This record gives sequence, structure tokens and C-alpha cells, in this order.
Amino acid sequence: MAVTIQQLSKWKKENRSIVALTAWDYSLAHVLDEAGTDIILVGDSLAMVALGHSTTLPVTLDQMIYHAAAVCRGVKRALVLCDLPFLTYQESISQAIHSAGRILKETGVSGVKVEGGYPRMVETVAELTAMGIPTMGHIGLTPQSVRLLGYKQQGKTVYEANRILAEAIALADAGAFALLLEHIPQDLAATITAKVPIPTIGIGAGVHCNGQVLVTADLLGLSLKQPPFAKSYVNLREIITHAVTEFAQEIKENKFPG
Ligand code: KIV
Repeated sequence: MAVTIQQLSKWKKENRSIVALTAWDYSLAHVLDEAGTDIILVGDSLAMVALGHSTTLPVTLDQMIYHAAAVCRGVKRALVLCDLPFLTYQESISQAIHSAGRILKETGVSGVKVEGGYPRMVETVAELTAMGIPTMGHIGLTPQSVRLLGYKQQGKTVYEANRILAEAIALADAGAFALLLEHIPQDLAATITAKVPIPTIGIGAGVHCNGQVLVTADLLGLSLKQPPFAKSYVNLREIITHAVTEFAQEIKENKFPG
């Protein structure tokens, strides 16, 4: 049965961990779905892993829609979500509704994700939710603010931790259906997870979240550079290099085609 947003809340109550990964194309999405991934996020990290940019900032709404539609064509069970890319929702509520609406209408995803908290994103989440657009929040390290914050861990001081906790509660109150917690101390993630009624999905936020997400290129060992909290479960770069070298060798030796 296809995973729904309501199912995620039920899983939180049942203490059933949620498995989330990113995808950027049809074939990868098909494999992740068949392997039992619960949430497939068309993350704007595709700007880096699929398009070769050095940050997530350059990816456009049209590019996100193009990739999200391809991912949706490959998925039967998982809940597919899509990031709103940089400056396609921060200018005004109507810009956010227009961009999120396009994503929902043109791709088949079930919801969108926005980065940030006080004060604007809380209002934006409330308005998107009021329009019937399921919205996930993303707080802690927010890569779209890289020019301001860098990639360092957030929430290390009491002041910062209190602000992030307050943002989590405000986003949940505003109607966010889930929260992505990136690169914050695990105690803070545990407190947020205990205090909000919606599921938390962590990346670099410790084991106490309701689920975990990884950028799939990191999990597969395809990334050229990955954050310290990521884990590779296979070295696909090495496996692909080996296969390509063997293919080249067989061509040179007239063994392929056999
Ligand atoms: O864009 C992305 O891949 C993300 C990760 C933090 C999962 O948002």
C-alpha cells in the first residue's frame, strides 16, 4: 500500500522508524522504492549530486519539477516529496503558493519541503497548509543559507538550541506534517522529537529522531565530497570504475560483443 502523510504520524505513535532517501531520476527512484524506502525526497541537493553545482542555490523550479516528475514515474509505494528551491518561496506567500502549486500539479509528488523557521517560514507553512499543500519543515543546518551559516552544526549554544526548539514547535503548530532536522546535537533532536506531535526525520541529528534520511549519492559512495555525518554502505564509484575498465578491456581485445 502506498505510504501516506497520515501513515507517518501513525508510525510516530507506534515508534516505527521511518526510512527516507533522496532521488533524482526514474531508475534510482524505482530501485529505492522496491527496496522499501518509505519517503523519497527529490532534494535540492540534486543541484550538487546530479547537476555538479557547488551549492544547492542554483537549481531552478523547472529543474526540480523535471526531476520530481521522473522520480514519481518510478515510484509505486513510497511517499514522494520535493524541495522548493532557493528563492522560489522566500519572497512572498503568493510566490510560495505558486511554486508549491506548480510542483504538486506538474509532478505527482505528495508534498513539498521548505527550509527555515521564524518568522516567515512559519507563516508560509501555515498558508501552504491552508491551501491544502502538505508541507515539511527543514531546520537546523539549512543548506540554502550556506552563504550566511556555512555547513557547520547548528544549535550548539543554549540560545541557538532554544531558538531551534521554538521554531520546531511553531512549524508543527503552523501545520507542517513532518520536520527534517539537519546537523544539530542529538539531545536537541531528542527534545524536539519528544515535544512535537509530528514525525522528525534526522540527518546528522542522532538516533532519537522518528526516521533518518541520507543523500543517496552518499549512501552509495558516489559523492565526491560528503558531510562527516553521512555513511556509505557501498562504494559504487569503485564498482562502476571496475565495470567500465572491464568493458573497455573487452572492446580492445575484441571480446565484446561476443
Ligand atoms: O536536498 C536534500 O537532499 C536534503 C537532505 C538534507 C536530505 O534536504
